Amino acid sequence: METTHRVFVGDSRDLAEIDDDAVELVVTSPPYPMIEMWDDLFTALDPAIGDALESGDGRAAFDAMHAQLDRVWDELERVLVDGGIACINVGDATRSLDDSFRVYANHARVLEAFESRGFDPLPDILWRKPANSAAKFMGSGMIPPNAYVTLEHEYVLLFRKGDESRSFEPGADRRYQAAYFWEERNRWFTDVWTEVQGELQTLEFADDDLRDRSAAYPLEIPYRLICMYSAYGDTVLDPFWGTGTTTLAAMCAGRHSVGSELEDAFLEVFDDRIADVPSLSRSVSRARLERHREFVTRRREDGNEFEYEATHYETPVVTKMERDIQLREVAAVETLTDDAEYGYRAIHEPLALE
Ligand SMILES: C[S@@+](CC[C@H](N)C(=O)[O-])C[C@H]1O[C@@H](n2cnc3c(N)ncnc32)[C@H](O)[C@@H]1O
Repeated sequence: METTHRVFVGDSRDLAEIDDDAVELVVTSPPYPMIEMWDDLFTALDPAIGDALESGDGRAAFDAMHAQLDRVWDELERVLVDGGIACINVGDATRSLDDSFRVYANHARVLEAFESRGFDPLPDILWRKPANSAAKFMGSGMIPPNAYVTLEHEYVLLFRKGDESRSFEPGADRRYQAAYFWEERNRWFTDVWTEVQGELQTLEFADDDLRDRSAAYPLEIPYRLICMYSAYGDTVLDPFWGTGTTTLAAMCAGRHSVGSELEDAFLEVFDDRIADVPSLSRSVSRARLERHREFVTRRREDGNEFEYEATHYETPVVTKMERDIQLREVAAVETLTDDAEYGYRAIHEPLALE
């Protein structure tokens, strides 16, 4: 089994390299409007944004930043198949402009943008992200009424393109092999995620500054979303590719991927990150199986029996749909030399029985 992974250096407001209806899933995190670290980037995309910020017109800057993201959302509408899912990780921004503090509700604006493009919103996920600063409380601390709540969550907004789900041929192997365990379903499909930071082993960045500059999300986020919303053989797109966390997750999950990123500096360091993909993917898949076995032990201790046996692993499973689960590991990653400036082929093997 092989998967391909292509990355283009370029502006996702025009995804010319990607055909219509070419991807089944989008997993991404855009630059968040009104978060200062992205002011220069947005101003480069539209100089009027810098002018609005300078004159203290937060509302105009917010609208103009979203107008740039809207052009990427237009492209997603074109390249995503009908019934395909878009997962958008975004946080709101708090900011003082002209001495006036307020929240800029990015999640609400992105939701409107997708809905107006014919996507149906699905129940979303709150990702709880602790702000670990000692001085996190803002405003005047202990006297009412001018203190402000600290934002410690981000959203994963979920949309389906169109009003119909994707259909598969009955009994499609690539779908059943990509099933998740019952207890994973219960954890992943809850609407508040609290334990995503560091649950999976993450790849170290050679350059610490890079992680800060890129605002990379933890691998667990795209990995779960890919397992939840795509089958083997599907292609996952990240139009705000950054350091390529979505591609790493797609490699670990055995799906194809494609990405686009403005800053070529991020792509140059990606080769260092993929060297560890074989060991990372093995440890991710083994951890899932190990965790499942712990669940089996606990459930039996609680006096419950299992009705089904997994076909590929010596373990019982709760439901019929889990029987054919086949986790994968990456044996090697090779460089592709074709149309993409950066392209990789991952060779996958079924996770072997230990
Ligand atoms: C929040 S970061 C994504 C981080 C990524 N999820 C990761 O884990 O590394 C947003 C990324 O989008 C890129 N970007 C912003 N606007 C873009 C555009 N119009 N086209 C392509 N990339 C863009 C930025 O350079 C930045 O790397």
